[in-house]
Amino acid sequence: MGPVDLYEIVRNLHVPMPPEVLVGLQTSDDAGVYKIGPDLNLVLTADFIAPTCDDPYLYGRIAAANSLSDVYAMGGTPKVALNLCCFPARGVDKSALTEILRGGLDAITESGAVLIGGHTVKDNELKYGLSVTGIVRDADIKTNAGARAGDLLILTKPIGTGVVMSAQKSGLITEAEAMPVLERMAQLSKTAAGLMNRFGAHASTDITGFGLAGHALEVAAASNVGVRFHAGKVPRWPLAVQLAQKGVKTGVKLVEGKSADEKVVFNDALSAEERMLYFDPQTSGGLLISIASKDANQLLQALADAGIADAAICGEVFASERAYVEVKE
Ligand code: CO
Ligand code: CO
Repeated sequence: MGPVDLYEIVRNLHVPMPPEVLVGLQTSDDAGVYKIGPDLNLVLTADFIAPTCDDPYLYGRIAAANSLSDVYAMGGTPKVALNLCCFPARGVDKSALTEILRGGLDAITESGAVLIGGHTVKDNELKYGLSVTGIVRDADIKTNAGARAGDLLILTKPIGTGVVMSAQKSGLITEAEAMPVLERMAQLSKTAAGLMNRFGAHASTDITGFGLAGHALEVAAASNVGVRFHAGKVPRWPLAVQLAQKGVKTGVKLVEGKSADEKVVFNDALSAEERMLYFDPQTSGGLLISIASKDANQLLQALADAGIADAAICGEVFASERAYVEVKE
């Protein structure tokens, strides 16, 4: 949802929680869920981001995919979208803006949702994204609180997109070299979300600004469990690994009270560069799905059959007195 400081402020405002609010501000979830009828709930989210690349059409698709992703992460189906756009008074020409909005529209259309409006303001820095409203049935709602000890974890897109984008911004690699990563970011989590619902996954979240470890920590905290990753199984962009080894820095400071040292425990054998990738902020990252171990292989096979070949079972959920994330070799 919004930036961290704003989130803290809103949480401290004692926002009313009528019973229709099934998922509100308390569990750091990807989107809100509001009951409007028997077995029918709205899923609501908004997100906009600064340019991810020079190609305006591709940026539009990525920004829209990133916004739609939060609905998918809740197990929902996007229905309507509003454009949210900030654009500078000069420096960005009309054709570029047209391409951004065309890219966004293509992603919305691919999701099955419809664009029904939006809002644009002049701002010094270009930003684009969507407010998305989707629907979800009761049984399909995937909150951060649903993970159970014994579940296996599936990640549906490789991590490392933040390193690649920062290398591209600083001119270390070209946009052409980053293209496979950017194209993957533009892909929707629509198929992955449909399949996780079909196989009855327990919980999911999408990997975005806090990185894999940060979002896994949100799941651990909301579900009162521990989360363990196996480093060799976590899908990562080979380009991101190379760039990290060359010294490209990435990573986010976790929000207050989530200090990396005590809440994310790494195996001693893992290098600083490898560790850093767990805090690499993702844009339009994959879904981290928690599912009963008996169903995990079937879901993984179904994802592969649907063309999501880079998804992998990369960890598990375990009973723990304290919520934390562990990364094994
Ligand atoms: Co979000
Ligand atoms: Co999210």
